[in-house]
Amino acid sequence: MDGIVSDIAFIGYGRAGTRTGKNGIVPRFSNTLMIGATGMLHDAAAWVAERSERLVLVSRGAGQSSLAELPNVVTVSADWRRPDAFIDSIARADGFVGVQLAVLWIHGNGTEAKRRVLQHLSRLDCLVVNVQGSTALADLKAAAQRRRTPGAGARPITVTLGAVRTGSGQRWLTWDEISAGVIDAIEAEEDRIIGWLP
Ligand SMILES: NC(=O)c1ccc[n+]([C@@H]2O[C@H](COP(=O)([O-])OP(=O)(O)OC[C@H]3O[C@@H](n4cnc5c(N)ncnc54)[C@H](OP(=O)(O)O)[C@@H]3O)[C@@H](O)[C@H]2O)c1
Repeated sequence: MDGIVSDIAFIGYGRAGTRTGKNGIVPRFSNTLMIGATGMLHDAAAWVAERSERLVLVSRGAGQSSLAELPNVVTVSADWRRPDAFIDSIARADGFVGVQLAVLWIHGNGTEAKRRVLQHLSRLDCLVVNVQGSTALADLKAAAQRRRTPGAGARPITVTLGAVRTGSGQRWLTWDEISAGVIDAIEAEEDRIIGWLP
């Protein structure tokens, strides 16, 4: 995997969070689901909310997010460290059945919860965007293999977070760069690597 360079490049920065007017956007999805999207993915979540009839937003403090004020956003406050309760709360949320787009940023101690969420989503006719850190490179090959599996309901794609090279070394991606990359992946329905992977 040496020398992988972004295949998205940094297309379209600045699109994240742009609003062309509440009535100017036609909803593209009926129900959508975003997990772990209240931090660095906030702008991507706002973009998805604008294009959804209903967005289910999940994190421990989802209700405190400014996105919770949007009339089409349903918040689920749940902790992925308790996978049983986490899955139950999501599965019970209005709009979970019929989710057409799911964006997951479940990391660290959320491995079991993520496995179970993916299991649920695999039954739906749904684009699943799995956002992962650069340490998850080994998953890229497995994700490509899964995509080739015929008959699967869900369409999994992966967004991998890299870094940006600078004159003096490298830096983390900014939140704008990350949200823009996720939006680009949703629009293309294709894997993306944001930035540079060593
Ligand atoms: N290049 C890389 O590989 C890479 C990888 C990772 C991160 N980063 C950098 O790290 C920065 C931020 O990453 P971050 O993950 O700390 O923050 P974040 O994305 O800003 O926030 C984490 C998200 O997960 C939710 N969350 C956290 N623990 C949870 C739990 N136990 N159960 C349910 N939801 C939970 C949080 O909401 P609640 O707090 O409400 O639960 C929030 O929505 C970015 O700027 C990025 O550049 C880079």
